[in-house]
This record gives sequence, structure tokens and C-alpha cells, in this order.
Amino acid sequence: MRRVRVGVIGLGAWGWNVGRCFYELPDCELVACCELSESRRNAAEKNWSGVRAYATVDEMFTGADIEAVVISSPAVTHYPLVRKSLLADYDVFVEKPFTLNVEHAEELMHLGTARSRVLMVGHLLEYHPVVEELRNLIQSGELGDIYYIYTQRVNLGRIRGDENALWSFAPHDISQILYMLGVDPVDVSARGQSFIQKGIEDVVFLSLFFDNRIMAHIHLSWLDPHKTRTTTIVGSKRMAVFDDVAVTEKLRIYDSCATPQQARSYGEAIQVRFGDIRIPRVSAAEPLKLECQHFLNCVANRTRPRSDAADGLRVVRILEAAQRSLEQDGIPVGLRGNDEYHAASERADRCWSALRA
Ligand SMILES: NC(=O)c1ccc[n+]([C@@H]2O[C@H](COP(=O)([O-])OP(=O)(O)OC[C@H]3O[C@@H](n4cnc5c(N)ncnc54)[C@H](O)[C@@H]3O)[C@@H](O)[C@H]2O)c1
Repeated sequence: MRRVRVGVIGLGAWGWNVGRCFYELPDCELVACCELSESRRNAAEKNWSGVRAYATVDEMFTGADIEAVVISSPAVTHYPLVRKSLLADYDVFVEKPFTLNVEHAEELMHLGTARSRVLMVGHLLEYHPVVEELRNLIQSGELGDIYYIYTQRVNLGRIRGDENALWSFAPHDISQILYMLGVDPVDVSARGQSFIQKGIEDVVFLSLFFDNRIMAHIHLSWLDPHKTRTTTIVGSKRMAVFDDVAVTEKLRIYDSCATPQQARSYGEAIQVRFGDIRIPRVSAAEPLKLECQHFLNCVANRTRPRSDAADGLRVVRILEAAQRSLEQDGIPVGLRGNDEYHAASERADRCWSALRA
């Protein structure tokens, strides 16, 4: 594959990792980066040979010979920077959350399609080998009918001042759940509390309800004694637990379930099975590298990203509804009736097929 010439915007705590991955990938030529902080610009030029660091996006766009832009600056900058990059005809990879509202997400999705640009959103867990395995287990019916899913993304971590725990963390859990289930929720409800900074929720409990009775519950917090990153899936045949903090053996499948029986007597009405626990071998490849490589493949081969703009929009739609619920003490907010992103997704499908033809 030819080497894709990339420029990265934003080299903060996460952006540095993103820059490092692109620098290390053989299919990428990391040409430039853009960062407001002078010390980080100097560090980038020192660590990554051949990379030129710019102080503004305009300088990078005029000075560097790049074809794709990776945006890892704060969420509030995503919309203007993606827009600017698409209008300058670059392919774009933007970190989560795609945008801070549905209107902006829709506009960028249409702009990307109209200009035939690759537009990918950094839904990291969609590239995690364990999530891929869980998706296969669900889609193949190995877990049976899915009853419910719950995730925990908590630790005593970086307390952000520009977004709450919902917008900071939930894009991961929501995109993971949608990717695994392949269906969208019909309503959401969220409750949370701001303890440290007024109006910025540190803790959020978010619930998603799906048409087929599946429930998902997401616990988010940067105010917790434990670093926990778990996903538990309970099905009618088996159960699975994904522990992303574990160094090895991240996935366990429990051959256990409870099934209602044709009752002869009360004692026989429900059968509970406690079976073996299986620990499948799953690739230990770094999810961020897999995600960055996927973007390079899409740029080089002109293919549609797995986590494209339509996927970004689906997640922002849920986040926006959850925020509305959060502001109204957890009232359920419906997600029916807006088929715009399905229609847009189909348009994007047609557009990519036409490009490949
Ligand atoms: N995928 C993940 O797992 C993951 C994890 C953490 C953060 N993120 C996302 O990555 C993005 C960055 O997060 P972070 O933790 O690195 O934030 P950060 O605040 O640590 O860093 C942001 C950097 O962007 C720079 N910046 C801001 N505006 C800029 C501009 N106009 N041009 C150039 N540089 C600019 C800042 O100087 C800063 O260095 C956010 O969107 C965040 O949600 C994703």
C-alpha cells in the first residue's frame, strides 16, 4: 500500500498517542502536526524525525504537503476544524465526540459525502479485537437472545472543565453497544450529578432501551476509587464479561444461564445452569493502531470507514437526547421518528459504491 501523508492537529494527552501511532505505522508518512503549545511542538519535532510542527492550522494547510488530517483537539474545536479540512479537500479522522450537536454532525456528514472525502470518527472500541469477538458472539447467536448489557467506565481521572462525563466518556460505550448489537435504541434516560464544578456532571448513569426489550446501562464517572472498564453482556444462553483493564484474559464467556421451562411443578419452572468459563484467545493488537491503520486503508483504497460520519451522527443523537434527559431529572427521551441518519447512511453507501465502480 502507498504511504498516506498525514497531518495531526492537537498533541495533548491523547493526541500524542494518536501522533505516535501514525508515526510508527509503515503505511503512513507523518508529515506535519499542528499544536498551540510551543513546548509540545518542539517535543514532536524532536521525537518524530521529518515531522514539521506548525502553530496554526492555516500554516499547516499552506505549508505541508498532506492529504489527510487527523483532529485530536478538544471537542469544541471538532466542528470548525473538520469543516475547514473538508472544504480544503482533505480526508479527515476526528476524535470522539464527532460534534457537540446533531445539526453540526449532519452538516459535516453531508459535506464529506458531497466532496467525496473519507470522514472517520474515532470510536476506538469499534476497532478493539475483544469488541469484534463480542459482536461475533452476539450476531452468531452464541450468547442467545440478548437480555441486557451494562458497562462501567469509571476512575479517579482527569476532571474536564469543558465537557461533562457523559460527553467525555459515553461515546465509547454507546458506539461499542451499537456496533455489537447492530440496532439503535428507541429511547434513553440519564441522571447525573455535578459535585466538583457547577453544571458539569462528574457522574452519569445512562440507560438505553431497545425495541426488542434489550436494555443497556452505562455508568460513567471521573470520581471513583477504582479504574474500571468493563462490559457485561447477559444472554439467554451464555454471558460474557470484557475487562479492558486486565492485562491478559480480557474476555470471559460464562456458559451459564437461566431458562424458563414448561413447568410441571414450581421447582422445575426455571432452570439455572452454571457451566464452564471459557477464556478465548483474542489478538492483543493495540486498538488505537488498528483504528489508525483502518483510516489509512480507507484513504488509500477510497473505502468507507467502519466508524464513518453516519456512525458519528448516531452517537451524537443519543448523546444529545441523553443530555436533554439529564437536564430534566432523567425523563425518557424518545429517539424514534428521525430517520435522517438512516437515509444519509444509505446515501453514503451509494456514494462509496459509485466511487468504487
Ligand atoms: N479515543 C479515546 O480513547 C480518547 C481518549 C482521550 C481523549 N480523546 C479525545 O481526543 C481529543 C483530545 O483529547 P486530549 O485528552 O488529548 O485533550 P487535551 O486537552 O489534553 O489536548 C488538546 C490539545 O489540542 C491543542 N489544541 C487546541 N486547539 C487547537 C487548535 N486549534 N490547533 C492546534 N492545537 C489545538 C491544545 O493545545 C492541546 O494540546 C478530544 O476530542 C477527546 O475527546 C479520545
